[in-house]
Amino acid sequence: MDSVLAGSVEKNGYLDIEVDPQLDLFAEIDKLRKEKKAIILAHYYQEPDIQDIADYIGDSLGLAQKAADTDAEIIVFAGVHFMAETAKILNPTKKVLIPDLKAGCSLSDSCPPALFAKFKEKHPNHIVVSYINCSAGIKALSDIICTSSNARAIVESLPLDQKIIFAPDKNLGAYINKVTGRNMVLWNGACMVHEIFSQQKIAKLKERHPDAKLIAHPECEESVLAMADFIGSTTALLKYTQSDDSNTFIVATEAGILHKMIAGAPDKTFIAAPPDNSCACNECPHMKRNTLEKIYTCLKYELPELIMDEELRIAARKPIDRMMEMSRVAGII
Ligand code: 13P
Ligand code: SF4
Repeated sequence: MDSVLAGSVEKNGYLDIEVDPQLDLFAEIDKLRKEKKAIILAHYYQEPDIQDIADYIGDSLGLAQKAADTDAEIIVFAGVHFMAETAKILNPTKKVLIPDLKAGCSLSDSCPPALFAKFKEKHPNHIVVSYINCSAGIKALSDIICTSSNARAIVESLPLDQKIIFAPDKNLGAYINKVTGRNMVLWNGACMVHEIFSQQKIAKLKERHPDAKLIAHPECEESVLAMADFIGSTTALLKYTQSDDSNTFIVATEAGILHKMIAGAPDKTFIAAPPDNSCACNECPHMKRNTLEKIYTCLKYELPELIMDEELRIAARKPIDRMMEMSRVAGII
């Protein structure tokens, strides 16, 4: 490997090299993708240009399925680290590239494996259901992984007397406790984007747009979820905006998804739910570390690559396989 390029990745988390501003990045990325038999997977929270160039856009469950099933030789993952890591866990013979290794996740970071192992020890006889937004280290300490698409079905399929720890998202965990009547022990983690929505500002918006539906991701706080007309994963929210008769939607999740919502229903009005202050906090700074330039350089030089310790990969795979199996049985995939 070119040591200058490797040094740049080590220092910055991505290839900090100049890209000719005259280049048609859409055409160049398309050419490289075909030459290298690569697939670009992107989450809905990516910037519009990346969504437009992706081969597949989806929620965490859809992306994991696609990563597991693809016969492409290279997977470029335009999302955050835990998503690319999941792709590698599921498809270890493929080269998994991530445009920026520093594209992390506040929710995943809120649950360090060493502390979580101690937390587990304090709750013997509990099984661990972990939201996919966690590190491989947490996955390896878990019995079952879930996403926002299947968390309810997975928890409901467990025996009523089964004691459960749910990690790392306390908001999703509390929501699942509420809808299933369970009493799972919750790890105290949260997503910096979904925690910032202002209940007061949303209430004012609803007054101004009485016919608008509030749709929310279950990572939002209880006070916001209590006001919501519909709660679901990013894919579920997107589908709802297409199937529901309403003309206006207040969207309480990362604002990147509005790109696909508008494309899917151009005559409808979408309002990004306002954060608690005047910053652009309804955009995930981790997701937004990816750019078209970084996708181009990452595909061209095949760096940064997601490399995993094999023992950790095998341990982290078991609870993901269990999720896939339970999702099949529940008819979700
Ligand atoms: P989903 O797309 O699976 O609903 O997850 C949302 C999210 O926060 C991803 O980081
Ligand atoms: Fe993590 Fe929240 Fe960003 Fe999703 S939106 S990657 S949960 S910080």
